[in-house]
Amino acid sequence: MNTEKMIIYGSQYGSAEKYAKELSKRIGCDCIRYEDVADINVYSTIIYIGSLYAGGVQGMKKTLKKLDGIENKKIVIATVGLADPTDKENIEHIRGNMKKQLSDKVYEKAEIFHLRGAIDYSKISFLHKKMMGLLCKKAANLPEEKKNAEVRAMLETYNKQVDFIDFDTLQPISNAL
Ligand SMILES: Cc1cc2nc3c(=O)[nH]c(=O)nc-3n(C[C@H](O)[C@H](O)[C@H](O)COP(=O)(O)O)c2cc1C
Repeated sequence: MNTEKMIIYGSQYGSAEKYAKELSKRIGCDCIRYEDVADINVYSTIIYIGSLYAGGVQGMKKTLKKLDGIENKKIVIATVGLADPTDKENIEHIRGNMKKQLSDKVYEKAEIFHLRGAIDYSKISFLHKKMMGLLCKKAANLPEEKKNAEVRAMLETYNKQVDFIDFDTLQPISNAL
């Protein structure tokens, strides 16, 4: 196993996994699910790609809290969500949440990127459908000026099948490695 560089991903329905596998091909390094990481400390470069669920990055906190020392490591984190990842307010919101899920050291050290994912309501779990239904009901009543990128993405994609996956957006990540 290559202990130099590893792509680790946290994905529920496959979008973060697709990005991880494509990046793996592009930069020529292995990728694994966060659930399968045996010892994170053997890698010198860690690229974590995780999908966003209510602000949480799937598997990220659990995985990166096991890091012992990070002085000589490179850490790259990419989130995958439905809300526009070029929207400044959305980026601030995502990063604010990430800060709470990571130690200060890891947050400061990490190079952070944001990718856009996909959703297919015919494939998500009953619980997720229910959650989104409740959130959308609440969000629909918000005044227009209070609807941020996250709320807009949620309302626009509710009960649909949408796919914003764009492998070209992996380029800045490849460049950073
Ligand atoms: C219950 C639920 C919560 C979500 N929360 C967010 C969120 O906070 N921000 C966001 O941008 N997208 C959110 N999404 C959208 C997912 O991040 C998006 O569908 C992503 O591509 C899923 O990745 P995966 O296919 O790898 O699991 C949510 C989706 C569901 C079903």
